[in-house]
Amino acid sequence: MDQNELKKAVAAAAAEYVKERLHEGMVLGVGTGSTANAFIECLAPFKDQIRATVASSEETHRRLRALGLEVLDLNSVNEVAIYVDGADEANEQLHLIKGGGGALTREKIIAAVAREFVCIADQSKYVQVLGRFPLPVEVIPMARSHVARQIVRLGGDPVYREGFVTDNGNHILDIHGLEIRDAVSLEAQLNQMTGLVTNGLFAARPADLLILGTSEGIRNYKA
Ligand code: A5P
Repeated sequence: MDQNELKKAVAAAAAEYVKERLHEGMVLGVGTGSTANAFIECLAPFKDQIRATVASSEETHRRLRALGLEVLDLNSVNEVAIYVDGADEANEQLHLIKGGGGALTREKIIAAVAREFVCIADQSKYVQVLGRFPLPVEVIPMARSHVARQIVRLGGDPVYREGFVTDNGNHILDIHGLEIRDAVSLEAQLNQMTGLVTNGLFAARPADLLILGTSEGIRNYKA
């Protein structure tokens, strides 16, 4: 199976997982990116049984609406039962790097609210040490250079994602050259930087379940 087929396989497995746990009034959180898009397509056969969704980006919102699903404002929701999203990297502790698509802030907010966070990824995303994929951070535009200087002091090499504006009107710096041995403490350290909105480490709130697509089949990893 190529990478695309593996993405479709994990998307189908996650849709099955959700279907088995559907309950009345359940709100489903839906992530952003190509794997999440494959997941959205797999919801079609049972979309009428899904009460409502919340979306981690404008793009996902549009795709869910196109399928005929209701998309709620997170502020009007008491509980998100399951949140399904992809990742750019995942390790065995189910710590993730996310934000390759620039939707990290809304993704982290939904992950924080969700009772269960299910990450779906193909085997290329599974790593021993996080950091080969450049770590995205969302910054307030006027703070971009200030945050970049602080990141250099930490030993990272921040690169401005030129021409990209997030759904929240902010900018993205992609941090290269990090070897992340302690994701929980780096996540907290980055959160202290003034002007930095969100960093793409999902370690304080890791995934609860990783559904990984491999050439040998689907593997489930639990936290
Ligand atoms: C979006 O901002 C990201 O967090 C995505 O979840 C991540 O980039 C994975 O994307 P793909 O599923 O397209 O690889």
